[in-house]
This record gives sequence, structure tokens and C-alpha cells, in this order.
Amino acid sequence: MDVRDAALEKFLSVIKTQMGPVEEMMTYYRCAIMEIETKFKVLNEQFSLTYDGNPIESIKTRIKSYDSILRKLQRKGIPFSLESIYENIFDVAGIRVVCSFEKDIYLLADYLLAQDDITLIERKDYIKNPKPSGYRSLHLIVEVPIFLSTGKKLMKVEVQLRTIAMDFWASLEHKLRYKKNLSEKQLELLKKEMQATSEMTVELDHRMQHVRDEMREEQE
Ligand code: GTP
Ligand code: MG
Repeated sequence: MDVRDAALEKFLSVIKTQMGPVEEMMTYYRCAIMEIETKFKVLNEQFSLTYDGNPIESIKTRIKSYDSILRKLQRKGIPFSLESIYENIFDVAGIRVVCSFEKDIYLLADYLLAQDDITLIERKDYIKNPKPSGYRSLHLIVEVPIFLSTGKKLMKVEVQLRTIAMDFWASLEHKLRYKKNLSEKQLELLKKEMQATSEMTVELDHRMQHVRDEMREEQE
């Protein structure tokens, strides 16, 4: 083995010992997302038997990047360690469930929380109480067990439930908010317009819900 090969082997072994435990924890978060995603898919299938149509439009999942995790620890003044991530950062694993109608959000949330392996850690209803930005969604932090060869491990997952209209607004608002070098005037326009367009999504969701309620009534 020449000198460069030896250096490479040494570097790889350092990376493995340093990154091994981090990757192990990220794998557990990915497993927790799989568990929660399956639960929503099962509910979606079952709903389609009893109600008309599937309540879920789409499901997106994500693992928080190392970068964002570390910045969040820094922002909150929390120590940099795996244990402290596990104890303090509740949105390492994230799942976003986009529903057709507003009432479906609450039904799905209730059925998820009624499952006996799920523990509710935190619930924030930004639909009943939108954020000052105009942001609307139902947020849950839940704890779910994953079953490993070494036993059971409880993992926290952030669940965001939204309608298509809420998701549309949040996606575009996110893009606009991160535009650089905006003038005071542009920032003011953005704020006003985001609040106004958020109101429009409320109206859209309520009218769609109303139409569906009327359609169901006619059939009953
Ligand atoms: P964080 O420390 O940022 O996680 O705040 P938090 O723990 O108080 O969580 P919060 O309930 O505010 O939800 C955070 C997540 O919700 C963000 O990562 C976004 O996905 C979403 N979110 C919250 N507020 C807004 C908003 O004003 N606009 C958009 N587009 N998304 C938002
Ligand atoms: Mg959060």
C-alpha cells in the first residue's frame, strides 16, 4: 500500500467512525417516516371504501438536512450532540399530507392520533389560528415506535396536514419570501398580498367544502 492509499484508508475510517452514528440515527428517522406514511396510506385506502373518493391528494416526506439541523441547534442555543438532536429537534423527520377538503384533515388527524402506538407530543392548529404571515396548516408532532433487531425505539415525526389551496399558498409564499434584496416597498406589498391571498384560500376551501357537503346530502 503506498502512502496515498494509506491516507485514503485512514480518512475513510475516520469518516465511518464519525458519521456512522449520525447515519444510524437518520436511518431511524427514515423508518419512522415510513411507519407514518403507511398509516396515512392505509387510512386513505379505507376511506375510499366508506366515503366517496380518497381524501389524500399527495404525501411528501423529507429528512431535515444536516445543515438545517445544526443551524437550529445553534439558533436555540442547544448543545451539538446526537442525543441533543434526539431530545430537542422534533422536525428531523417530516411528512406533509395534502388533502382534498378541510374536514378530511381533521378526520385523518383524529384517526392517526387514535392509534394506540401513536403519542401526540404537540398540536398546532394554524387553520383555526393562521400565522400572521397568512400560513395555514395543521401541525402535529407525534411519537411512533420503530421495531429494530435491538428492540423498540421511539421517534418523533412532524406531520403537516393541508388542503391543496393551503399547500399552493405555502409553496409560493416560501418562494417569494426568500427573494433577495427586496426594497421596503416590495416587502410591504408582499406582506399585504400574502395575507390577502391567504384569505382567498380560506374562501376557496370553504366553498369547496360546502359544495361537497351539499353533494353528499343529495345522495343520502
Ligand atoms: P421552526 O423552528 O421553524 O420549526 O418553528 P416551529 O417549531 O415553531 O414550527 P412551526 O409550527 O412554525 O412550523 C414550522 C414549519 O411550518 C416550517 O418548516 C414550514 O414548513 C412551515 N411554516 C411555518 N410558518 C410558515 C409560513 O409563514 N410560510 C410557509 N410557507 N411555511 C411556514
Ligand atoms: Mg418545527
